[in-house]
Amino acid sequence: MIRTFLFSQFLLLLSLSTVLSAPAPPDDTHIVIETRQTALVIRVNKDKDPVIVHLGTKLSHPEEYARISSNGKRGEDYTAIYNSAYTPAGGRNLLEPAIQVTHADGNPSLDLRYVRHESKPAGDGATLTTIYLKDPQYAFEVALHYKTYPDEDVIEQWSTIKHTEKKAVTLHKYASANLYIPADTYYLTHFHGDWAREMNPREEALTEGVKVLDTKLGTRADLFQPPSFLLALDKPAQENEGDVLAGTLAWSGNYQIAFEVDPLHNLRFMAGINPYASAYSLAPGKEFTTPAFLFTYSTTGKGGASRSLHRWARKHRIPQGDGNRLTLLNNWEATYFDFNEEKITALFKDGKKLGVDLFLLDDGWFGNKYPRNNDHTSLGDWQENKTKLPHGLGYLVSEAEKTGIKFGIWLEPEMVSPKSELYEKHPDWVLKLPNREEYYFRNQLVLDLSNPKVQDFVFGVVDNVMTKNPSLAYIKWDCNAVIYNAFSATNPNPSHLYVDYVHGLYKVMERVHTKYPKLPLMLCSGGGGRVDYGSLRYFTEFWPSDNTDGLERIFIQWNYSYFFPAIATCNHITDWGKQPIKFRTDVAMMGKMGYDIVVSKLDEKELQFSQEALKTYDRLKPVIWQGDQYRLASPYEGDVASLMYVNGSKDKAVWFSYLVSNRYNAGSKGNIRLAGLDPAKTYSVQELNVYPGTKSSINNATTTYSGNYLMTVGFNPNVDARRASVVLEVTEAN
Ligand code: DGJ
Repeated sequence: MIRTFLFSQFLLLLSLSTVLSAPAPPDDTHIVIETRQTALVIRVNKDKDPVIVHLGTKLSHPEEYARISSNGKRGEDYTAIYNSAYTPAGGRNLLEPAIQVTHADGNPSLDLRYVRHESKPAGDGATLTTIYLKDPQYAFEVALHYKTYPDEDVIEQWSTIKHTEKKAVTLHKYASANLYIPADTYYLTHFHGDWAREMNPREEALTEGVKVLDTKLGTRADLFQPPSFLLALDKPAQENEGDVLAGTLAWSGNYQIAFEVDPLHNLRFMAGINPYASAYSLAPGKEFTTPAFLFTYSTTGKGGASRSLHRWARKHRIPQGDGNRLTLLNNWEATYFDFNEEKITALFKDGKKLGVDLFLLDDGWFGNKYPRNNDHTSLGDWQENKTKLPHGLGYLVSEAEKTGIKFGIWLEPEMVSPKSELYEKHPDWVLKLPNREEYYFRNQLVLDLSNPKVQDFVFGVVDNVMTKNPSLAYIKWDCNAVIYNAFSATNPNPSHLYVDYVHGLYKVMERVHTKYPKLPLMLCSGGGGRVDYGSLRYFTEFWPSDNTDGLERIFIQWNYSYFFPAIATCNHITDWGKQPIKFRTDVAMMGKMGYDIVVSKLDEKELQFSQEALKTYDRLKPVIWQGDQYRLASPYEGDVASLMYVNGSKDKAVWFSYLVSNRYNAGSKGNIRLAGLDPAKTYSVQELNVYPGTKSSINNATTTYSGNYLMTVGFNPNVDARRASVVLEVTEAN
C-alpha cells in the first residue's frame, strides 16, 4: 500500500518536474520589467493569470525570458497562483492575499485576470509599465504599476483599484506590492526601537508561515518599527556580496509587510497599507491609489543595495537631493522651554562665532492664553508668546540676519494640546472617541487631518509664518504623538480615518512644498518616528533620533544608512554621551551636520576645533552628500566601526573610523580595506579634524598608495582609546 503510494507520488513528481523544466507555452505572454541589473518577469498563461516567474539578475539575452515557464516550484501548487503578481482573496487562493474585497452584491471573492499591459517613458529616464487586470465576473479592475529607474536599479511599485459596480465595494486589504522569490533560505533583517533607540536591526531566518512587520500607531508610525527591511537569499546578508533585496514602503501611516514562506518553501511578500481598522469603501467610478513600495535587488550585498537607494533618493525623490543643506545651531537642548528674546539673540552671535549657516528656534515660542512653557499646553496656538518674544518672530529673523545668520523655526502643526485656544474653539477638529476619556501621548492630541478644514488650518500654520516672515529659511516639522482615540467627528467612514489622515497630511505637505519649493524642511517625529520616502518627497532632510550620544549614533546612523542617504540625515552635536566633542563632531559629519549645544560653554580648544571642523565640512560635504557610501567595518562585529564616502570621479574620499568598544586594548589592530576607489589611481591619506594640541600619527603627505593597494591590503587608521575617532581624507595624488 505504502509502496504503491510512494510510487504514484514519484510518478507525479516526475511528470511535474518535466512540466516545470519545459519551456513556457508559446502563446504565454512574458512581461519583462528591467533595470540596469535586475529583471522582474511576469508571465501570463492561457488562463490569463499573471504570475511572477523571475525576480533577480537580468538575463543577457532578453529573448530567453520567454523560456521561463515557472519559478521555484518544488511540488504541487494547488491553486497555480502561489506566485501571483497580485494575489486576490476568496475563490481559489489559499495564502496571504494582496487584495481582499467584498463586492457591491456581497460576494466576498475576487478573481483578477490579465487584460493588457503597456510600457512608456515616465520622465527622468524612468519607464512605467502598467499591467491591467480585471475580474471576469465583476466590473472591478486593478492596475499594477512598476516604475523602473534603470540607472539606479530601483523599482517603484503601486496599484490602482477601481470599479463600476452598482454600489460601493469594500476594500479590506489593498497592498501596494506582491512579490515572489524562491531560494533555499530567506534571511530577513528588520528594525525595531522606541524613542531614543531607533533602528535596531534583527536578522532572522524565515520559516514556513507568515511573518508580519507592521505599525498601528497612525502618526509617528515608525516609533517601534519602520517600514524598511533587507531580505537576503540563501545566507545572512553580507555587506559586499550575495543577493539582497532592500525594500521600503513610501507611506507615513499604518503599514503591513507580510512575508510568507509558502507550502513549497518559496517566499512571497505583500507590502502596503495596514488592513487593520482600515476597510475602505470605494464608490463606483472612484479610483484608489496605494502608496508605492520601493525596492532594489543587489547581487553585491547590502552595500550595493544601499548605494542604489541613495542614488535614487538623491536624484528622484528628496527635494534638492543634489543641492545644498544648511549647517545650523538649534536651541532645544541649550534652553528647552526656558528662553526669551535676549537669550535667543545672544545665541545668534554664538552661531555666527561657531560658523553655522542658520539658527533654529525650537519648541516653546508660542501660545499666549496658555504659554508654551512646558509640553502640557499651547499646541495649536501658533502666535508668538508676547512675554518671551515681545517683538515677534519678524524681529528675530531680522536680528539673525543682522548677525549674518539665517533663521529657522520649529512647528508641530498636526497637533493640539488639550489646554489650548484651538481645542476650545474647535473640539470637533480633534481625534477623540465619543464616550471615552481622552488618552494622551506626550500630553497632546492629534488634529483630524482627514477633515479638509483642518488641512487648511495646518497648511495655514506654515503659510502664515512664511507669509509674515518671507526670509525665514528653515522649518523643522515635528510630530510627537501617535494616534490614540482614533475617531473623527466629521469623517463619514470611521474606518477610512487612518488612510485619510495620511492623504490629508500629504495634501498639506504638498501644498507647502509647492508654494515654497526651495524651503529646507526637516522631517522630525519625536526623534525618528516618521522616516519614510512618502514624506521625504516633500522634505529635504530628516531627524533620525533624539539620541545624539556619539557612540549610540554610530549604530543608529549605520542602520538608517541602509535606506537613506547622508545628505538627508540630520546629525547634531549635543551634550549627550561621554565622548569628547571631536568624537561627536566626527560622527555628525557623516550626514547633515548641526549643533545643539551652549556654544559659550565650549572651552577655547573645543571652540577652535569646532570652527575648523565646520570649515573642513564645508569643503568636503559634496563628497559626503553626493558620494557613494561604503560601510567598511561594522560596529556590531568588532572594536572599530568604519565607513567612507567616495566622490563620482573617485579622486576624493572621506573615511571615518570609530572605537566602539571599551575593552582593554581595543582598537584597529590591523588594516581596514578601503572600497570604491579607482585601483589605477594613486592616493595620499591625510588626517582631518585633528584636535588642537595633538598630532596625527598618520599625516605623511609624501607617501602615496595605489587604489589597488588600499582596497587589497588596506590601511590602519590607528584607532585606539587615545584616538577613538579618526577622519581621513583620501585624495588622488598629482
Ligand atoms: C522632539 C524632537 O525630536 C526634539 O528635537 C525637539 O524638537 C522636541 N520634540 C521639542 O518638543
